[in-house]
Amino acid sequence: MIDYKLLCEQLRSLAEDEPHYVPVLANASALLYEELDNLNWAGFYLMNKGSLLLGPFQGKTACIRIALGKGVCGTAAQKDETQLVADVHKFPGHIACDGASNSEIVVPIHIDRKVIGVLDIDSPDFGRFSDDDKAGLEAFVKALEEVTDFTGCTP
Ligand code: SME
Repeated sequence: MIDYKLLCEQLRSLAEDEPHYVPVLANASALLYEELDNLNWAGFYLMNKGSLLLGPFQGKTACIRIALGKGVCGTAAQKDETQLVADVHKFPGHIACDGASNSEIVVPIHIDRKVIGVLDIDSPDFGRFSDDDKAGLEAFVKALEEVTDFTGCTP
């Protein structure tokens, strides 16, 4: 099991000198992609003009815009609720950016209690993400909300 507390500390130190959301989210996706086993995508979608726009990520090229309520990402953003999906093929409306993905977790990101984007992580394994991963990644997003300067990005 990955040490999410350590991962949050690593994120905080990465953002220390420069909190601008572009480098912080770019490094956050690299950190997650490097430290978590069996992933094929880790990155961010950010609210822009009423839908989710592709942000910094690691993995294969991905869909650029996702409407609210669509796919796993749009559902997480609209419901303001983490989506833990053991088998994406059973998720109604799942958007397959990379055919290799079999499970996924999406955590909403907030500023002033408003959803401003999501963290999206995909795995080629079925059931890759446990409830402990969910708690750890929600803590990671909380740390991200605290250390990141989202000026110029917030809707
Ligand atoms: N599977 C996501 C789309 C984004 S990609 O996984 C990078 C979804 O259903 O929202």
